[in-house]
Amino acid sequence: MSGKFTVAVAGATGAVGREMLKILEERRFPASTVKALASSRSAGTKLPFGDAELTVAELREDSFDGVDLALFSAGGGTSEKFAPHAVRSGCVVVDNSSAWRMDDRCPLVVPEVNAHALAGHRGIIADPNCSTIQMVLVLHPLRGIAPIRRVVVSSYQAVSGTGQKAVDELERQVRRMFNMEEPEVAVYPHRIAFNCLPHIDVFMENGYTKEEMKMTNETVKIMEDPTIRVTATTVRVPVFYAHSEALNVEFERPVSVAEARDALEKAEGVVVLDDPARNLYPMPKDAAGKDEVFVGRIRRDESCDTALNMWVVGDNIRKGAALNAVQIAECLVRDGLVRVADRRAFLR
Ligand code: A2P
Repeated sequence: MSGKFTVAVAGATGAVGREMLKILEERRFPASTVKALASSRSAGTKLPFGDAELTVAELREDSFDGVDLALFSAGGGTSEKFAPHAVRSGCVVVDNSSAWRMDDRCPLVVPEVNAHALAGHRGIIADPNCSTIQMVLVLHPLRGIAPIRRVVVSSYQAVSGTGQKAVDELERQVRRMFNMEEPEVAVYPHRIAFNCLPHIDVFMENGYTKEEMKMTNETVKIMEDPTIRVTATTVRVPVFYAHSEALNVEFERPVSVAEARDALEKAEGVVVLDDPARNLYPMPKDAAGKDEVFVGRIRRDESCDTALNMWVVGDNIRKGAALNAVQIAECLVRDGLVRVADRRAFLR
């Protein structure tokens, strides 16, 4: 390691935490030391970090003494409890949970869209929901053509979004079913193998799930446009890695497929994969492990002359979580923002 920052990953043993470590290494993040933190259950566990190994320590209130930057992916409750302690130690937190996303004190950032929101941060920066990240990466270049009025999105989300335990459960259920055995159901309310669940996160009073409302509310915050209306149906599907989304985007004026394709081809972090005659379109099996978000099936909405349909696929663990968090950290380094100006901002 050759850098000047002491970096911690909280939730290092989880699906996203492991990927954070991998990406910090891959992208040669300027760290002098990397600390791996998780629950007491994992203390002493060894995790690979490049050619070396990190020994996991228990996440505690004093874990952040001397740490410059912490990437959190250990669940909302853990972030709520420990992120303010980190800030009070002078550590800048990039948090992947939903705990701080809609808090006015916390920027919610997708670097390709709103890196400017990092300026003046108060110690905690929120990493958006995985489904929101891949959607706004596509909406941002499109709104450069014409203002967006409304988005109707249906998602097809991989089990890794729930964490490593859900990845293990899908694998176990598939094995058992091929052996004619009854699958065990523990993580979701129903079997996920060979099934689809129109249920991600908890149901709310308005009949939507929390995941669906995250897509609505986070999009407005990231795009800094309260006029964009988003309605979502989010569905868990038996895919291990990479979320897919069917988007219907309604503009203020008619936008041609050629205009949209041109804007998307120029967009940072987006790859257009759209040649139906050759059966070319984005699929989770190809997007898994990649950094870019892929868009295809771009076509007119035959029922509305100001709308387009498209299909968007991205790796939920990489760009949808770990990569976006590391990219936020890279922006903080680039802009000289790895410091907490106001340690009292998160005193409750
Ligand atoms: P552990 O492995 O020790 O339980 P995933 O999202 O894949 O389920 O991973 C969740 C991550 O958050 C894991 O690293 C897990 O550690 C960590 N974690 C969960 N609860 C806590 C907690 N109370 N304190 C610290 N880390 C936690």
